[in-house]
Amino acid sequence: MAHLVLLLAVAICAARATGEITPAEGAAPADIEYINPPSLLNATELGYTQVVTAANVKKTVWISGQTSQDTGGNVVGTTLEEQADTTTANVKKALEAVGATVDNIVHIQVFIANYNPDTDIPTVAKVTKAFEGSNGTFPSAELIGVQSLFSRELLIEINAVAVLP
Ligand SMILES: *[C@@H]1O[C@H](CO)[C@@H](O)[C@H](O)[C@H]1NC(C)=O
Ligand SMILES: *[C@@H]1O[C@H](CO)[C@@H](O)[C@H](O)[C@H]1NC(C)=O
Repeated sequence: MAHLVLLLAVAICAARATGEITPAEGAAPADIEYINPPSLLNATELGYTQVVTAANVKKTVWISGQTSQDTGGNVVGTTLEEQADTTTANVKKALEAVGATVDNIVHIQVFIANYNPDTDIPTVAKVTKAFEGSNGTFPSAELIGVQSLFSRELLIEINAVAVLP
């Protein structure tokens, strides 16, 4: 028995050391439904879902707008694509902090500074792909082109809403 307890303690410490957080017990993201009603454009190919519902939610998580900044506030990357990578990674770090993954996201908003549909679509596609769930599902979403974000160096900001069962 003492051995078992010790092993368990070691396992928990190891999990903590690797930064791994296990989702809340009973976490089954399957309570999220992704619906593209036939009365609307099928958005799946565009990387989002028209209607998302969540049942049996115990905890709702609002993730503030993430940007391409490190923990010291330094801007990482100079191109939209580089900043998109860091920004999606930061959203995932925020999810991890509460034991959630992309499978828990129900909604995202993507803000792009000086958005140009002629050149920025590939980055938008990369961002939506980054939030694809393990069953090929996508959250509901908005893309918003803005004049500027809070600093001129920042080119993209993403916020998200996630639910935990
Ligand atoms: C993926 O689909 C399977 C089968 O419908 C389901 O059991 C599982 O919970 C789903 N996974 C996620 C993350 O939604
Ligand atoms: C929407 O498009 C996706 C991807 O092409 C497809 O798998 C899915 O069956 C379509 N859904 C509907 C409701 O037509």
